[in-house]
Formats: sequence, C-alpha cells, structure tokens
Amino acid sequence: MPIPDRLNPTFASARALPTDPIEEARRRLIVALDVPGAASAAGLVEQLENTCTWFKVGLELFIAAGPAVLEPLVARGHSVFLDLKLHDIPNTVAAAVRSAAKLGVRMMTLHGAGGPAMLAAARAALEGVDNPPELLAVTVLTSMDQAQVSAVGLDRSPAEQVALLARMGMDAGIRGFVCSPQEVSALRLLTGPEGVLVIPGIRPAGAAVGDQKRIATPAEALRLGASYLVVGRPITQAHDPAEAAESILREMAEALG
Ligand code: C5P
Repeated sequence: MPIPDRLNPTFASARALPTDPIEEARRRLIVALDVPGAASAAGLVEQLENTCTWFKVGLELFIAAGPAVLEPLVARGHSVFLDLKLHDIPNTVAAAVRSAAKLGVRMMTLHGAGGPAMLAAARAALEGVDNPPELLAVTVLTSMDQAQVSAVGLDRSPAEQVALLARMGMDAGIRGFVCSPQEVSALRLLTGPEGVLVIPGIRPAGAAVGDQKRIATPAEALRLGASYLVVGRPITQAHDPAEAAESILREMAEALG
C-alpha cells in the first residue's frame, strides 16, 4: 500500500487525477487512536495498518503513554497526526511546536483561539525545519453547538466564529484548519485549493453520534471540500475495526470516484 510521503494539499485538483478512489480515500482517512495506553494503541494499529495510513494521537494516549508512543508508528512508515490542541502564550507554543517537529509527526494542532501572535510564533518556530509538520488551527470544536458557544461568552454563531478564526489564521500564515462538516464548504471557499481542511465529526450512515454535534457522513464531508477525515469511535469501537474502516473507505470512494 502506498504510504504518502508528503502532504498534497491541492485537493481541488485531486479529482481530476486518475487515482483509484479507494487508494485516494485511504490517503485521506485519519484514525483517531483515542485509547488509554500504548498496548491498546498497538493492538488497534496492528488491526488497522493494512487498511489505514494515518493515525492520530491525541491527549488521552499522549498523556498516558508519552512521546514514545509515536516512535513505532513513525518507524513503521505511518503518517502521524499529533492532536494536542496547543493553547498557551506564543513563546511556550513555539517551543512545543519545535519539540513536536523532532518527533516526526506530519500534522499537529493548536487552537486558533490562541490568537494571531500565538499562531505566527508557532509558524516561525518551524522555519528552517526539514519536512515540518503541517500546523492545523482548530476553529470551533465539533462538540460545540450554539448553546456551548454562547456559554463561553461568544456573541456569534459557530459558523461565524469558525470563519473569523480561519481568516485570522490565514493572516498569520496558517493554511491548515480543523472544523466541523458544517463549515467546511465555507472554509474551502476561503482557503481555496491550498487549504488543508481536516474534518472530525464524521459518522457513517446509521452510526452512533456520541458527543459530536455538527456531523456528516464521510461522502458528504468530502463533497463539501474536506481534505482529510478524522474518524474515531466508529472505527475504534467497532467489533471489527478493519472492516469498519474499509466500509468508511468505500463511502469515501463514492464521493471521490
Ligand atoms: O470518536 P470521534 O470520531 O468523535 O473522534 C473524533 C476525534 O477528533 C477525537 O479524537 C477528537 O478529539 C477530535 N476532534 C474533534 N473536534 C475537533 C478537533 C478534534 O472531534 N474540533
């Protein structure tokens, strides 16, 4: 199976390429390894590595197992997305980004709400780094609906807040964003084909929604302009994770074929 060796963000033209839709889907599906430790992560990766090329390590696993959990993933040629959603003063975030770049991750997140100075410092921290990770600014968490957004004092709709943060991020030199399926088409218009739009909140038809509020099916999210889809529980909690991933790849391929 081809492992992507670099990010290709020009997704608008991807449809024109004579690529097998399943292989193209495989290149764009990220499995969230939201598990409590290195052993369960290794078990899942073993079940999934012939089906998936991207794995996301988030707070639960990283805090439990530390940076060492990334090493076998990188060593086995997988693409790793480090999803720690950094949000701190610019100097601290810049230093954390430099540390993460040394771990061999290909994408990493920071909160857009950290502001333009924080985003610019993070970007500056990667200048001169070989094969740097793509920085993704998280806009509004997909678990937040209007009530949650209002509760933190924002006098805007989630969609307006996403657009504001994306414009701010682009001004700070960021081209990668995490947003919900509901905002992806507006963000694609804003970023053009160069935007790297990573979309969680994906639920195959008939799947449990869990705590996600702003969701879409895999095919819908791709049709709306997503570059990558992040899928956690529908794969990791399935009776047969590899079969669940295959089925999602088939749904994605429908939109890519
Ligand atoms: O299990 P589920 O498919 O809902 O997992 C979604 C993953 O995407 C989780 O790891 C979650 O932390 C992450 N995520 C999200 N919303 C964001 C950013 C990341 O759900 N805005």
